[in-house]
Parts: sequence; structure tokens; C-alpha cells
Amino acid sequence: MIKNILITGGAGYIGSHISEVLIKNKKKIFIADNLSTGHKRLINKKAKFFKVDILKNKKIRDIIVKNKIDSVIHLAANLIISEGEKYPKKYFRNNVLGTKNLLRACENTTIKNFVFSSTAAVYKDGQYKVDEKSTIKPKSVYGKTKIKAEKIIKQFCIRNQINYCILRYFNIAGSSPSGKIGLLNKSDHLFKNFSREIIKKKPILKIYGNNYKTKDGSCIRDFIHVSDIAEIHFKVLEKINKSNNSKTLNCGYNKGVSVLEVAKTFKKQTSKKVEILVSKRRKGDLVKIIAANNKLKNFIKWKPKFNNLNTIVKSCISWEKKQ
Ligand SMILES: NC(=O)c1ccc[n+]([C@@H]2O[C@H](COP(=O)([O-])OP(=O)(O)OC[C@H]3O[C@@H](n4cnc5c(N)ncnc54)[C@H](O)[C@@H]3O)[C@@H](O)[C@H]2O)c1
Repeated sequence: MIKNILITGGAGYIGSHISEVLIKNKKKIFIADNLSTGHKRLINKKAKFFKVDILKNKKIRDIIVKNKIDSVIHLAANLIISEGEKYPKKYFRNNVLGTKNLLRACENTTIKNFVFSSTAAVYKDGQYKVDEKSTIKPKSVYGKTKIKAEKIIKQFCIRNQINYCILRYFNIAGSSPSGKIGLLNKSDHLFKNFSREIIKKKPILKIYGNNYKTKDGSCIRDFIHVSDIAEIHFKVLEKINKSNNSKTLNCGYNKGVSVLEVAKTFKKQTSKKVEILVSKRRKGDLVKIIAANNKLKNFIKWKPKFNNLNTIVKSCISWEKKQ
């Protein structure tokens, strides 16, 4: 049985939601985070927190050994696409070397399971609906660091008989129904930007491009609620532990939602006059990407609980109002 789980990056947006779900399911949580983009206030009170960098493999190894960690969920990374283009070395160091050092810390310990947060950004542009066998060709430095980390993890886990699961997240949004955690970072995140605008006196929802070859001209994404993502981690861990199986899985709803639809859903939540401002296309934006998710569904018998755009939007706004 899984008991003691180490979450790297557990003080971040997704890590705090995963901690909440695992603690609810009676797991003991240990968090290793350097707080570079994470926040103390997102750390669950029932988790044991270590302020440490994953590059420090001896310190991490100590945590694993002393606390008899059986499973690792590895989220610690840099993830802003534009920043990665500007500072590729920083991204390779943190995301690739960081992963290598973390794995070194796991070698010949009690670790039996390893879950890694990868991304839809590893896929080649222009494929629209992608399954796990679709062509891999990341456009961004960020995507390149993630696919490199995936490969290193697979090799290491096979060599050391550790079960692994690579989870390729699509676009994550929303906040926990508990109201205690949500997205704090102000990086360019569609739902965050819209939530911050919609509570202003004169909201302006800015979208980039309305002349793409899509149903309404705006880009299409597969948005998944962060609480569904968190639940997936719990189920996947239990499953790989029991079955001694390893997998790479897309995490999305297999449903395309346009950016304009998101803007309109935000607009509906208020009686204020809302402007939807169409700006120029952004360099590097994919036109449309959707997750084929049969593999995930079959592996953990997964049924999403929050796959409703209104629910996601409402949860973002209620979180933003509290900030
Ligand atoms: N947010 C998304 O939409 C999305 C989509 C796909 C994949 N992901 C992946 O999910 C993971 C978590 O993302 P998030 O949205 O929660 O971001 P986040 O920035 O909120 O969380 C990342 C956490 O990692 C910590 N961290 C970074 N480098 C570290 C290091 N060297 N040592 C220790 N801690 C370190 C940060 O302090 C932060 O708490 C990342 O690996 C990201 O690539 C996120």
C-alpha cells in the first residue's frame, strides 16, 4: 500500500491541489519545494514541508530515506513558455538536470513509484487531436526540457524496477471547491487574466487572434479542471503500485473549447458591461490541440467530475474574489 509520498513542487498551483486530494485519502505528504514560484500559503497544514531545491540530491535523498518515502510525484519545474525561450539554460538546468538529480536521490531507496508532470507542449504542432503515439516535436524550449526529462525518467525507472507514470497535462484551470487553494502566480494564464479582469469595474477580456481556421476564429484548447488533475494522480499512483505497470497518459477531457467561448462564459457571470478585445495573434500559439484520453480512461476507469466550463469559470472567479 502507498503510504508516504514526496511531492516536488508541492507548494505550487497543481501540487497544492494534489496534496489536498492525497491527504483526504489518508496519505502522508512530504513536500520538497524551493519556493521559487510556489507559496507557503498553498502548503497543506497536514503536509511536512522542506524548503529545498531538487538539484540538491543529497538533501532530497535524506528526506526519502528518513521518511521511508515509497512514491514520488515530480512537479518541480519552470514552466513559462516565453521565459524558457529567453533563458533556455535556466530551463534545461532546472527541468532536466533537476530531474536527473532527483532520480539520483531515489536510487537504491524505498521508492517504488514515480509520477511525472509532463505537458501537451511535447507534441508536434498542427496535429489537432493527439494520442500518446502522435508525433513528438516540441516547439518550445519548455516542451524540449519536458520530453528530455520523460526519457530520462523512463530509462531510470526501467533500470531500477520502479513503476512510472508520465502524465501529459493539457490546459489546466480552476480552483479547489475547498476555496483554500488556487492559482496565485500572475504569469500569462487565460483563466487567471479573465478572472482578474471580470472583478474590475470595466472588464476587458483580451483574446489573441480571431482569424484562425476554427469554428469562431479563436484558438481551441482542451481545458481540464485542476481538481480532476489532482484526482488522476491519486488513482494513477494506486494503479501503478498495484499492477506494477508503467504508462504515459494524456490528461484532458477530449473536448475542444475555444478561447472566445471561455471569454463569453466569463462575460455571462456578471451584469457589468464587458468588452472582448481582439488583439493580434501571439507568436508560437498552437491553433488547436485536444487530448485523446482513452488510455487514461481505460487505465484508471476515470470519469471527470468538473468537466463543465461554467464550473471551471465560477471556481476561478470565486478564488480571485478572495485575493
Ligand atoms: N499549469 C499548467 O497548465 C501545466 C500544464 C502542463 C504541465 N504542467 C506542469 O505541472 C507542474 C506544476 O506546475 P504548476 O502550474 O503547479 O506551477 P507552479 O509554478 O505553481 O509550481 C511549480 C513548483 O515547483 C517549485 N520549483 C521549481 N523549481 C524547483 C526546484 N529546482 N526545486 C524545488 N522546487 C522547485 C516552485 O517553487 C513551485 O512551487 C510543472 O512541472 C509544469 O511543467 C503545468
